[in-house]
Amino acid sequence: MLDNPKESVMPRTLHINQVIENIYRTGTVVGQNGKVHKLHSAIDREEGEFISNIIHNDPKIIKTLEVGCAYGLSSLNICLAIRERVGASHTIIDPFQNIHWDGVGIRNLDEAGIDFFDLIQVKSEFALPRLLEEKEGEFDFIFIDGWHTFDHTLIDAFYASRLLRVGGYLVVDDISLPSVKRVVNFLKNYPCYEEYDSLDGEVSKSWKKMIARRLMSPIHQITWFQTLLPSLYRRIFDDRITRIVALQKTKEDTRSWDWHNDAF
Ligand SMILES: C[S@@+](CC[C@H](N)C(=O)[O-])C[C@H]1O[C@@H](n2cnc3c(N)ncnc32)[C@H](O)[C@@H]1O
Repeated sequence: MLDNPKESVMPRTLHINQVIENIYRTGTVVGQNGKVHKLHSAIDREEGEFISNIIHNDPKIIKTLEVGCAYGLSSLNICLAIRERVGASHTIIDPFQNIHWDGVGIRNLDEAGIDFFDLIQVKSEFALPRLLEEKEGEFDFIFIDGWHTFDHTLIDAFYASRLLRVGGYLVVDDISLPSVKRVVNFLKNYPCYEEYDSLDGEVSKSWKKMIARRLMSPIHQITWFQTLLPSLYRRIFDDRITRIVALQKTKEDTRSWDWHNDAF
C-alpha cells in the first residue's frame, strides 16, 4: 500500500506529444484527484495541427497567450510548438480551471513537463485590461477560445489586438458560431489585419441557405451580383463552415476615432 494515496494520482512526466496523443486516443482526461472525465469542448487534432503549423512556420513566435484553457488541449498544442524556443512563455487566462475543469488543463501541462506557463484564474474581461497595462504589443500569438457571446468575444479581441505586436497572429476558434463569426468579420475589416489562414469544416446543411440558393441560382452566374452585393452573395453561396481563423497583424492599428467600415 502507498504511504501517500495522492502519489497514485500525481502525473508522471511524459513527452508532450504522448500526452496529447493519449487524450485524443482515449477521449478522456484525468483530474487533480485522479477522477476521469470525458473530453469535451476542446480543439480537435486538426485544429491543433492548424495552430502548430502557424507557430512552426514563424520562428519569431515565442510569447503566447490564450483565453480559455478547459482541459488544456489548446495549451498543450501551443506549448508543444514553442517549447524549444529560447524564452518561450505561455500565458493562460481561465477563471474556471479549478472550479469547473478539475485542474485538468494544468495537470496535463505538468504531466508533459511544461514549466514555462502562467495561469491567470481571473475572467478575461478583468485579466486582459490588467495585462495590457504592462504588456502592450508584447505577444506574438494570441488564441481566443473563451466565453463565446458576441460582446465577450469582442472584448477579448479588443484587448488581444492591443496586446499583439505587429507581425503577430490572432487566432479565433469556434467561428461557426454566429456570435464569434460576427466578431471575426468585423476584425477582418481592420486595416491592420490580414487573414493568414483558416480551417473549414463540413458544408452547411442550413435549409434556409439551400432554399435561397435554389431560388437565386439563375443569378448565381451573374458576376455583378457577386461584385455589388458581396456579403449577401457570401451568405447565400458560401456553404463552407469555417471553424478557426488566423489573422496576422501586419501593421499598427492607426484607425482614427471615426473609423467605420460599411461592409460590416
Ligand atoms: C471552449 S472552452 C476552451 C477549450 C480549450 N481552448 C481547448 O481547446 O481545450 C472555453 C473556456 O473558456 C473559459 N471561460 C469561460 N468564461 C470565461 C471568461 N470570462 N474569461 C476567460 N475564460 C472563460 C471556460 O472556463 C472554458 O475553459
